[in-house]
Amino acid sequence: MSFRIMGTGSYLPPLSVTNDDIAKYVDTNDEWISTRTGIRSRHVATDETASEMGAKAALEALKDAGIQADELDLILCATVSGEYIVPSMACLIQRAIGAHCPAFDMSSACSAFLVMMETAAAYLATGRYRRILLVGTEQMSRVLDWTDRSTCILFGDGAGAVVLEPGENYLGSHMVFMGGEEVLNLPTNVGNSPYWTLERPRDTVNMNGGETYKFATRTVPQEILALLEQTGTQQSEIDWVVCHQANQRIIDAVARRLKGIAPEKFLSNIADHGNTTAATIPLLLDECNKKGMFKRGDLMVVAAFGGGLSCIASLIRW
Ligand code: COA
Repeated sequence: MSFRIMGTGSYLPPLSVTNDDIAKYVDTNDEWISTRTGIRSRHVATDETASEMGAKAALEALKDAGIQADELDLILCATVSGEYIVPSMACLIQRAIGAHCPAFDMSSACSAFLVMMETAAAYLATGRYRRILLVGTEQMSRVLDWTDRSTCILFGDGAGAVVLEPGENYLGSHMVFMGGEEVLNLPTNVGNSPYWTLERPRDTVNMNGGETYKFATRTVPQEILALLEQTGTQQSEIDWVVCHQANQRIIDAVARRLKGIAPEKFLSNIADHGNTTAATIPLLLDECNKKGMFKRGDLMVVAAFGGGLSCIASLIRW
């Protein structure tokens, strides 16, 4: 059950919003945001939807992979901020890039990109599909409450994509899922049934930041250590750690728990992207790939956590 990454792509909307810009809307400041999160700015869409951004990232990944859209066998997409519940993000992107293969979404919030990798590996193992496009794309700015300073400072918009083919480079994964909506949720609130008697939820991101922080700093190192043990890998063998970009302090806390991996191996772009939910991992992979940082054969741990609650760590050879 394995794959090889053929190509990567990403897209960010042009407008970059600084912490000082956000301080015009809510009672906050650059010092508070940057010291508590490591975030200094984030990209925010003004006239592009999540599917349009996702399609741009997808086309770039196809170009990098050296294949055409009609050579794809399957498209998997993840988003929590798409413009529709129906049709799926994957179907919108399928049409936008000119593909004709099956296309559907997977929902797992910030862990979704790694859940899609796990799923793609299983599909590739059947031999039924040979080229799979994965896209994580988010317009988080449209699902935030811009009067809530505890959440609107954290997130950003953007998209990332990878193209996979059968190969030997997906070496394993370890994950934990703990169902529950109390800590982190984004309700839907559509329709107007005259029979509904209960209160309607607020349809923006709701988060208990402290509990999310504790979950992440406990489970990410735990899942990475379990993954390394399961695959018989030493920390000293790891060339890169690609962590979900939610808070630089979380990444630093994970690095402190994994003493056998040098801190500079923990990659980060959160300072000018914020948390782009399902897009953080492919965005970071693409940016480092395009900078030429990864060498063929590099061993990387990729780890994500998020609403669910869920946490997943995967081992990949570049
Ligand atoms: N600007 C200024 N002050 C703020 C603020 C902001 N943007 N947001 C909250 N505060 C205030 C709070 O009101 C509180 O004030 P009080 O002490 O007077 O009550 C104080 O700062 C401390 O708030 P707290 O929530 O305890 O801060 P924190 O150190 O836990 O940091 C987060 C908050 C959200 C940055 C942090 O909990 C976090 O990153 N959690 C994880 C979030 C995450 O990863 N989400 C994505 C999951 S995929």
